[in-house]
Formats: sequence, C-alpha cells, structure tokens
Amino acid sequence: MAKQIPTPGRQRLFGRRKGHELTPRRQALVDEVLPTIRPEIDEDGRLDLKGPVAGKDQLWLEIGFGGGEHLAWQAKHNRDVTVIGAEPFINGVASLLAHVEDEQLDNVRILDDDVRPLLEALPDASLERIMVLFPDPWPKTRHKRRRIVNPLTVERFAVLLADGGELRLATDIMDYARWMMTAVWPHPDLVWTARRPGDWQDRPDDWPGTRYEAKAGKAGRTPVYLTFKRRNR
Ligand SMILES: C[S@@+](CC[C@H](N)C(=O)[O-])C[C@H]1O[C@@H](n2cnc3c(N)ncnc32)[C@H](O)[C@@H]1O
Repeated sequence: MAKQIPTPGRQRLFGRRKGHELTPRRQALVDEVLPTIRPEIDEDGRLDLKGPVAGKDQLWLEIGFGGGEHLAWQAKHNRDVTVIGAEPFINGVASLLAHVEDEQLDNVRILDDDVRPLLEALPDASLERIMVLFPDPWPKTRHKRRRIVNPLTVERFAVLLADGGELRLATDIMDYARWMMTAVWPHPDLVWTARRPGDWQDRPDDWPGTRYEAKAGKAGRTPVYLTFKRRNR
C-alpha cells in the first residue's frame, strides 16, 4: 500500500466534488478521454502515468487546477513538458478535458482526485515544477489544518522537486501568504527567489491568470506570487 502523507487526522482537504450537471460533450470526455490520461497508482504504490513521458523533457504538477485554464496554457506553451493536474472537482476536470481536446494537448495527465496519493507515488526528484495556485483558503482557525500547503506537503514537495526545480505558490489571502511563508521559508532546500517587491507582487509573464484570481481581483483582493527554487542535492 502506498504510504500516505500524514496530514493531521487524514483530513479531507477539498470542498465539493461536483457542481452543475455536465453537458453531454463534457460527460463523454469524462467517460471516454479521462481514463486514457488518468495516472493509475497500484496497491504497491507504483505509478503508471499513461503513455509516453519519455520524449518529454520535464514533468510538472499543478495541484487544484480549478477550471484548468492555467494548466492548459502551460501545456500548450510547453509542448516538451508533461503537465499532470490533480483536481477532485469533476466540473473543473471536464473543463480541462475540453481544453485538452480543443487544443490537441497530448502532454496533459489528469488525476480527478486528492493529490496526496500521487505525491507519495511520484519518484523523488521527478518534478521540475510544482504549482499550487490559489488553494482553498480555509480561513477559520479550526479548518486551517486542511490547507494543502503545510509543513508536511512542503517537505514532500522538496523531495519531489529535481535540483533547480521550482515551487510556485499564489494566494490572495494574506493570512495564507504568511502561512505559506512560514511553511516554506524555513525549509533548508527551498529558496525564495524574490529580490524586490515586484517579484512577488507581479505575476510573471509565463504564468497566466486563473479563474479564481480574476474573482479575487473583482472582490478587491491583491494576490501574491511566490516562487521558490530547490537547491542542488
Ligand atoms: C480556490 S480553488 C482554485 C482553483 C484554481 N487554481 C484557480 O486559481 O482558479 C482551489 C482548488 O483546489 C482543489 N483542491 C483542494 N484540495 C485538493 C487536493 N487535496 N488535491 C487536489 N486538488 C485540491 C479544489 O477542488 C479547488 O478546485
């Protein structure tokens, strides 16, 4: 059995799994295309990424991709990279599948579930980039342990990142920004790349905005963009 990340209490970290009913096209994508690109983890924790990652130079992971617009953009603009996305909300998964079909993206893999078993199954130093953009804020004190960015997952991110690999985090909730920094800053292998305020106040050019971010902007909240590099082993 794959070892589980010991998140306190084996908490469920995500909210709803399903929203409105899927259109027939999106339902068909979920039924027919998703099984062909969904990573499988067997009982011994072995991972099958479904298809050729060989030939692709890098493996990236986006956790909680929402509607998948950011992930699809990254896959489209980085054809030599395989981008894995994990997202338990099936309407978001269906939205990304529509991008995959419309834009003929053969370099996307989708886990329609909690990312944590995948974090366990991926080999050490296998990821060049991990992205966690606008994770669920869980603002109430008693819910904060549900935050996906926490010292245990950060420890795993550091193991999974290849030398020089990048951890990208974003949030519009200042309490979560402080929480992220508290979780990542002390890690000896992860180095914050910011040199001046613009480095965390401005979204980098190769980092398109997300749907959640647009909503946060309309609500008058200002995001932060945090990039960390993994030190060489
Ligand atoms: C606030 S939304 C942000 C979505 C997207 N990144 C964006 O910026 O538009 C956070 C997403 O993380 C997903 N999520 C929460 N916990 C997760 C987990 N353990 N594994 C994978 N995804 C998760 C949720 O289902 C939700 O869609």
